[in-house]
Amino acid sequence: MIRHLLSAADLDAATATQVLDTAEEMAGLAEREVKKLPTLRGRTVVNLFYEDSTRTRTSFEVAAKRLSADVINFSAKGSSVSKGESLKDTALTLQAMGADAIVIRHMASGAPHRLASWIDGSVINAGDGTHEHPTQALLDAFTMRARLGRLGGLSVAIVGDVLHSRVARSNVLLLHTLGAKVTLVAPPTLLPVGVGTWPATVTYDLDAVLPDADVVMMLRVQRERLTGGWRDSFFPSDREYALRYGLDAARVRRMPEHAIVMHPGPMNRGVEISAEVADSARSTIVEQVAGGVSVRMAVLYLMLGGH
Ligand code: CP
Repeated sequence: MIRHLLSAADLDAATATQVLDTAEEMAGLAEREVKKLPTLRGRTVVNLFYEDSTRTRTSFEVAAKRLSADVINFSAKGSSVSKGESLKDTALTLQAMGADAIVIRHMASGAPHRLASWIDGSVINAGDGTHEHPTQALLDAFTMRARLGRLGGLSVAIVGDVLHSRVARSNVLLLHTLGAKVTLVAPPTLLPVGVGTWPATVTYDLDAVLPDADVVMMLRVQRERLTGGWRDSFFPSDREYALRYGLDAARVRRMPEHAIVMHPGPMNRGVEISAEVADSARSTIVEQVAGGVSVRMAVLYLMLGGH
């Protein structure tokens, strides 16, 4: 297994499949009365979060605790970061306390890569800026495989704010490795420069891709990154965005019977996805969260357990 997980591109098909298979075994643990394994007893996992998170931070904490690791939750808010302490000094301090792995979320793309060059333990990227979120891609692949039985040959449409989405980039890389076909659907203003070099097809027309999609993955419109006077230049209004790129019940009816709807969360209900669709039987949003614990257990187990 790899030492660091910084990018979905760090995983070849065999390693990614090993993570998904191990996550399936970990999911079985959740059914037991005692949901703990002793595997990481005596190991320390630090959750180092410089940016807000609900799902990722809590699921890494649950995952590490289910494997009997000691967990330190570090949030930049309320820490010496407010006194100007650098990422490097913070990381070296945490390493001195015996961290075997640091799970990092940071607003700066590339921060986990810098961290990996400073510390001896493992680094897991829990989302860096607009760059990558590899464990989100793994849990999304885990959910697709559980619902649809395979990944190879699946048609996956990833829809919305691709420009600011670390989830989209990691999913494109991982799904390509695992043999799925990805189509990115977005207004031209929400596609990154160079997207033509990604292993994916690009289109502006959501309605055209729905009839052939096995998976429709909606992305959050990242309001916090559409700041200042620039906001209006990405799209005219939330209503206009929802009309062109929102997934509502009428659009879901254009999808094949078996096709599923995904969203990494948090959602803007009524913008990129309607409440009716988010809460429907087609939606895997809650399953994705549950799968997140199993996948993060698998990642920690394989990276720290010596397998
Ligand atoms: N999907 C995701 O990363 O959610 P959080 O920001 O709540 O961790």
